[in-house]
Amino acid sequence: MKDQAEKLRSMAREIKTRIESEVFKGAKRTRIVTVTSGKGGVGKTNFAVNLAISLSDLGHKTILLDADMGLANVDVILGLVPRYNLYHVIRQEISLSEIIIQGPRGIQIIPGGSGIFQLANLKDYEMKDMLQQLGKLEGQSDFLIIDTGPGIAESVLSFAVMADDIIVLTTPEPTSLTDAYGIIKSAAAMEARGSYYLVVNRVFSESQGVVVGHRLKSVCEKFLGVEIEIIGFVSEDRAVRSAVMNQQALVIYAPASNAAKDIRQIAASLCEKAGMVTEQPIGIKGFFRSITNLWRQKTTV
Ligand SMILES: Nc1ncnc2c1ncn2[C@@H]1O[C@H](COP(=O)(O)OP(=O)(O)O)[C@@H](O)[C@H]1O
Ligand SMILES: [Mg+2]
Repeated sequence: MKDQAEKLRSMAREIKTRIESEVFKGAKRTRIVTVTSGKGGVGKTNFAVNLAISLSDLGHKTILLDADMGLANVDVILGLVPRYNLYHVIRQEISLSEIIIQGPRGIQIIPGGSGIFQLANLKDYEMKDMLQQLGKLEGQSDFLIIDTGPGIAESVLSFAVMADDIIVLTTPEPTSLTDAYGIIKSAAAMEARGSYYLVVNRVFSESQGVVVGHRLKSVCEKFLGVEIEIIGFVSEDRAVRSAVMNQQALVIYAPASNAAKDIRQIAASLCEKAGMVTEQPIGIKGFFRSITNLWRQKTTV
């Protein structure tokens, strides 16, 4: 068991080094931001959708990848009905650009569907074609926000391990916090390459967020040696439910609500942090190449 963990770790390390040492001369690379949580139902999809729209409102071209194969996803929250998803691209029935949906405020949405984890099964030439299609998005977008399913399944974890920024969402509930710690621990064990950020969702007051956030932050530092930055809190707000019921994004449906203001503020902080980082982001091509390599190799461990 220990052997296998070490094997996976060294694979992840090797893939990361390879990607980072590659030179993409002068090409602009997209910043990959993975939104994840230990537990389901903590508000990831709602947060990811509204973060993407807020980033777009701040003038950054943003793509949202729905990588959760479960129910109640991005399309449902936005009242969209995608006909196709990555599965159809993988089956070569349709091109990547044709599955992309134009979302509100200029965001673009890639419905992952059941195709997302099948990327690992592509033959080399099929993967090359897929990367070429994904590469077209690279120059046109500043951020790729990934909404993941919950939990520490290795396939889900890879989205966090290879991202530039890992946003871990939790609520103040002890079970949610324990599971958030679990996912950070698993990502740390895989030596995730990006920066960790914590968002405490559904707080009743800022002071509650501060207390809860700092508790988790200090446990992560003490026991995992992981530096995690609290990037913000999102208020418990009835407007979130109303927006969901109306199948509209919160920041559009109720822009003056507390939760909408909170998410906009987090988007602004994320831009500020991204601007302070000097290394090149991994980019869409580098990211997909990394996660699929990781998935492929895992199956042979
Ligand atoms: N800040 C919030 N205030 C009130 N309710 C919220 C908030 N965030 C999420 N919710 C509720 O939680 C539900 C689940 O959110 P969702 O984004 O689908 O979670 P996840 O993607 O983590 O499973 C939403 O439909 C909404 O009713
Ligand atoms: Mg979700």
